[in-house]
Amino acid sequence: MSIRKTVFLCVFVVGLAPPLVRGQAAAEFRDRHRDAQGWPAEAIRASHGMVATDEELGSEAGVAILKRGGNAVDAAVAVAFALAVVEPAAGNIGGGGFMLIRLADGKTTFLDYREVAPAKATRDMYITKDGQLDKEASVIGYRSIAVPGTVAGLTLALKSYGSMKLADVMAPAIGLAENGFPISKRLAHEFEEERGGLERFTVSRHIFLNDGKMFQPGDTLRQPELAATLKRIAKNGATSFYRGEIAHVLVDDVSRLGGLITLDDLAKYQPKVREVLRAKYESNGHAWEVLTSPPPSSGGVAIIEALNMLESVPLKGWDDVQSVHIVAEVMRRVFADRAAYLADPDYSSVPVAGLTDPCYAKEIFTTVDPQHASSSKVIKAGNPHTCGLAASNATAAQNLVSLGEGPHTTHFSVVDGVGNAVASTYTLNDSYGSHATCSAGFLLNDEMDDFTTQPGVPNALFGLVQSEANAIAPGHRPLSSMTPTILLRDGQLSFVTGSPGGPTIISATLLSILNWMRLGMEPQAAINAPRFHHQWLPDRVLLETAFPSSLESALNARGHATHRIGNLGLVNAIAIDPVTGDRLGAADPRDDGAAVGY
Ligand code: GLY
Repeated sequence: MSIRKTVFLCVFVVGLAPPLVRGQAAAEFRDRHRDAQGWPAEAIRASHGMVATDEELGSEAGVAILKRGGNAVDAAVAVAFALAVVEPAAGNIGGGGFMLIRLADGKTTFLDYREVAPAKATRDMYITKDGQLDKEASVIGYRSIAVPGTVAGLTLALKSYGSMKLADVMAPAIGLAENGFPISKRLAHEFEEERGGLERFTVSRHIFLNDGKMFQPGDTLRQPELAATLKRIAKNGATSFYRGEIAHVLVDDVSRLGGLITLDDLAKYQPKVREVLRAKYESNGHAWEVLTSPPPSSGGVAIIEALNMLESVPLKGWDDVQSVHIVAEVMRRVFADRAAYLADPDYSSVPVAGLTDPCYAKEIFTTVDPQHASSSKVIKAGNPHTCGLAASNATAAQNLVSLGEGPHTTHFSVVDGVGNAVASTYTLNDSYGSHATCSAGFLLNDEMDDFTTQPGVPNALFGLVQSEANAIAPGHRPLSSMTPTILLRDGQLSFVTGSPGGPTIISATLLSILNWMRLGMEPQAAINAPRFHHQWLPDRVLLETAFPSSLESALNARGHATHRIGNLGLVNAIAIDPVTGDRLGAADPRDDGAAVGY
């Protein structure tokens, strides 16, 4: 179905709400309303549209499209192309992702433009002759690249649900690539941090390291090769990327430098339209519906399973050790199930209905000790096929194998003036993906590392485990944690959320939902609140540094191993004020996220 015309018919009662914040004023508003650690203390409020991304320039690109009369999907596509220019660590056209769309008329869809393994890929392609995992090959360089899906996904989104021409929504991205943009302190620092990987590839070294001279904050980053590629896509659509000139450049580079992708792989790439996962809850006197990501995302299943387990558990907040303990125990069990059951649904039978059944959650929750930490040696995946018969929490953990997921990905949320909403997460996997940049000016993913690279060996980045079903095979999509999610309250759009962060995507997104739906936090507070994460293995709770040591000691006293980590996730969310209908943009201050509305 298509929403070719968007009519802005917004009559909102502003009442006693804070003043509206329009366009550029958003930054000033943020500066005036900061908490003790310099983070925005409240969400940006606007009456028409809102875009929340990791980068102010990306958010502005989306708002420019909304102001021109584009709908949320037009704006989302503009944002995704713009982030491919201004957020090279994760924004991309050489990677893949997911887009969850909910239209104002209630229709929903999920676009899966996850990368796929090339036809020449094999199960043991990263195992050396002496049986060892080649730890580098799946994360850096040409052999780590899976067939990119982003351009196919974005053009499908626009064609199916947008109202504007591709060239128009791509104009902001093309301008940013051609004219350049000022390099922020953070971006200059990132180039420095990634120098070791980027300088191994001539094109990456040229574009991002200024041919080794390195950029300083305030310098302008111009990307003429990327601008030319974006112009080709704007003119000729996805065909230019998958069959035309760009495809030839990509395949020339890849085959010259040892990668596997062929012209045939590109020509065969297809994004998928999937059914949205849904679950209903009662909380604080309201009926909530969670719309979330189906496999090959593992996140939607995990979040519904977790919310099911937590439904009748009182939660007080994250300064309460009992609340943190229970949620950590729930995460432990959800990740054990993720490890055993989640994979590409086109090639494996994933027991989605069983795992998301409230009856199953009840069974699993009986294994949680309210006072003491369980051991992940004892807690294994459950048996979602026997719900109602007998709890079986010690089976189905055979054949667990490693999972590699990168720390960098990016999530953005968009709501337009009539209430169409988009939650989208897309990725190159690691920060800067494979670190190899195609001569056509864009970075290429290292998504092959999201497959099981070697059975039985914990993943180098996150030590995650999962099932044999996620083994490398031609045409398969690697399992993902990306979880774009939308919440409805009493049938109305209420919260648009998601996060990057490999497996911590699931915890960060879950916590944002709990903060909004269960704890009733103000939206920015819901994003700023400290985060924690448990992924079953390794058996420890990751705690952001903001947690007081007293809480850590209390968790230790209950038997939890703990480990401190700087930041978990980067959630860029939009809430809807239930009284005024205003859009409340809450970007994540952990990485200079910016919500811009009008
Ligand atoms: N590469 C991160 C994810 O898909 O979960």
